[in-house]
Amino acid sequence: MDKGKLVYQLLCAALLVVVGVLVWSNKQKSEELGNTPVSADVDKRQTSYILETVSKDSFDLPYPKVVGGMPLQEALSARSTNRNISNKPLSDQQISDILWAANGVNRKDSNMRTAPSARNCQEIEIYVFLKSGIYKYDALRNFLFLIKAGDHRREAGKNAFFKDAPLALVYAVDFEKMSEYDQEAKAFYSATDVGFVSQNVYLYCASNKLATCVCGFIDRESIALRIGLQNGKVLLSQPVGYINE
Ligand SMILES: Cc1cc2nc3c(=O)[nH]c(=O)nc-3n(C[C@H](O)[C@H](O)[C@H](O)COP(=O)(O)O)c2cc1C
Repeated sequence: MDKGKLVYQLLCAALLVVVGVLVWSNKQKSEELGNTPVSADVDKRQTSYILETVSKDSFDLPYPKVVGGMPLQEALSARSTNRNISNKPLSDQQISDILWAANGVNRKDSNMRTAPSARNCQEIEIYVFLKSGIYKYDALRNFLFLIKAGDHRREAGKNAFFKDAPLALVYAVDFEKMSEYDQEAKAFYSATDVGFVSQNVYLYCASNKLATCVCGFIDRESIALRIGLQNGKVLLSQPVGYINE
């Protein structure tokens, strides 16, 4: 056999091995997080907009996409507040990915989260304001459950851009989960921990060219009533959407 042909065949074989290893490692990573996606199913979920259109008592979120994205240094370079939020809907997959980035489970064996929390209290809860209703995010089950049907997005913050944003995340602390702390420590650590969650969303948005703005200019009392918050406090809101060009 001529030498050139042999080298070519060896290169092809090496390429096949590299592709095989990459596919296998992606699959392993997904399975580590309890995800066993069937590819046709994933395609369907990536383009579904069920949350945009109907309110459901509960909703199993599509598996979050835990690979890919921009290199971290580039995401940090691009991280910014952008108040030009378009009303274009986000898919169920995007909503799942944003919630996972915010405070999802990234170590399934111990239920640890993408955001750190003091003494691992995991006290920051995310209320998801969508056109179809307000939901609460259950990170452990990758699941949303309905708090209130209907469009309450305008009430998630006082800035005008809340009315257009397809998604507003409302961060609230659950004081039940901080029972070992006194009042002052509860306020201090929850205010600290919510910052990590918000920054995770900022970095996700930078990586995926979405607009976001964390907001303290909100009516905490009225939101707390709307979501039926008991033994907790509304901290910040953060709308997310495509960039209005
Ligand atoms: C705790 C906090 C509360 C904020 N509240 C609001 C707000 O209510 N409305 C608003 O338009 N921007 C708000 N911002 C966004 C800041 O104005 C913005 O982060 C700042 O101007 C710096 O811009 P950058 O995020 O692009 O670096 C808030 C930021 C933080 C950290």
